Amino acid sequence: MRIAMIGSGYVGLVSGACFADFGHRVVCVDKNANRIAALKEGEVPIFEPGLEDIVASNTAAGRLAFTTDLAEALERVDVVFIAVGTPSRRGDGHADLTYVHAAAREIAEASPSTVVVVKSTVPVGTCDEVSRIMGETGPGKSFEVVSNPEFLREGAAIKDFKKPDRIVVGVDNDHARATMAEVYRPLGLNPGQIQYTTRRTAELIKYAANAFLAMKVSYINEIADLCESVGADVSEVATGIGMDARIGRAFLNAGPGYGGSCFPKDTRALLKVAQDAGARMQLVETTIAVNDARKRGMARKVIAAAGGNVRGRNVGVLGLAFKPDTDDVRESPALAVITALQDAGAQVSAFDPEGMDQARKELRDVTFADDAYSCASGTDALVLVTEWDSFRALDFDRLRAEMNTPVLVDLRNVYRGDEMARRGFRYVCIGRPDESRRPGLSEAAE
Ligand code: NAD
Ligand code: UDX
Repeated sequence: MRIAMIGSGYVGLVSGACFADFGHRVVCVDKNANRIAALKEGEVPIFEPGLEDIVASNTAAGRLAFTTDLAEALERVDVVFIAVGTPSRRGDGHADLTYVHAAAREIAEASPSTVVVVKSTVPVGTCDEVSRIMGETGPGKSFEVVSNPEFLREGAAIKDFKKPDRIVVGVDNDHARATMAEVYRPLGLNPGQIQYTTRRTAELIKYAANAFLAMKVSYINEIADLCESVGADVSEVATGIGMDARIGRAFLNAGPGYGGSCFPKDTRALLKVAQDAGARMQLVETTIAVNDARKRGMARKVIAAAGGNVRGRNVGVLGLAFKPDTDDVRESPALAVITALQDAGAQVSAFDPEGMDQARKELRDVTFADDAYSCASGTDALVLVTEWDSFRALDFDRLRAEMNTPVLVDLRNVYRGDEMARRGFRYVCIGRPDESRRPGLSEAAE
């Protein structure tokens, strides 16, 4: 099939490259001329494991091309995907649909009749509005608008795209449904893995899924706080409840709060969708409130670990991306922790394997280090915010020698208290008692 992908960011580029890898012919379009120029030169402008290889091999095979020229891309395509951004609208938290509506207008002007698939995450009713806009802009043409939300996670995007748990297709006509079946046929999914439903239901499935996962994270984070008060271990609570198949272990890792380009903005947008519909979503409201308070609150943990005052002291931060294996820092907890530490008077140094370029645009007065050890140099506390693999086996003798005071605040529970005590560190983590004092462990630790 011939596919045009409008928007070549984290979702559009991954989706386009994966569709090409399955044998479709794909043109990825973007308004950002620098991005397209880089892609034409074989440079992938985002960090996503495995993406560079499939972009290179499919470009070489002639199945994947890039352009800023929408009209050229729309010549003789069977289906057009819209994968442009839907950020939070400044001020009120609604999804900003400017880019989606603009793309709809541009397609209606440039294309003859075609199937248009909204892959961007959008509020309920957006496909109806896209359909209306296209009818108005291209009178006499016939556009079939489909909702096909995307569930890939950054850092695991290619695997998620190629082996999805499910594909959701909101469609109200047979030709568009057959087109979507043909688009996804090469993935070899079981028929039960493709859910055909109405467009409005498909749109809501996406928000409901993200809000539920965000709620799981906020829930375990509150349990972690309780664990700290009562001397229980949140990791073991997560294991214990996660073995119940009705609950599941996924998304029960306590941490500094969820971030990224999806959970924060999508939970806010869902609240607005509900408000507009006259329905109150108290669980989602609380999920957001718990998370917002938590991100900056993590700085208080660091300050307490550093002796109660960080004014004029140095704090190192390991990890800037909102999760490992991505360069994306959008709404990363690390940014909130850093600004709260700066507000408390600390000098901050930071290191991230991939997120430094993006973080530089968001932060002021931070010393960006070349690696974890230079980040730790001269610090009074080191905070592990993002659980990159390369932070999982740090050389603590070397770190201790670099640091002013050996304090590690581990916001991802990567290390163990007894081990860190043995290595001479004051160690603070999330929702776990000091393991060196747990029965049966203290002797082993000596
Ligand atoms: P992004 O910001 O990385 O990329 C969007 C791209 O669209 C940008 O490069 C921008 O220049 C381009 N663009 C905007 N308007 C355009 C137009 N009219 N024509 C051509 N290009 C245009 O965004 P993203 O992270 O890929 O997210 C895209 C959508 O997918 C959002 O709705 C998001 O909520 C959803 N989503 C994202 C993820 C994720 O992990 N990032 C996962 C699932 C769904
Ligand atoms: C999310 C959804 O998972 C994906 O389906 C959707 O398409 C886009 O949004 P993403 O934001 O890329 O994906 O990452 P995800 O792995 O879901 O993590 C989101 C945030 O939650 C991160 O900040 C992560 O650190 C945090 N998280 C996740 C936890 O704190 N604990 C967990 O157990 C899981």
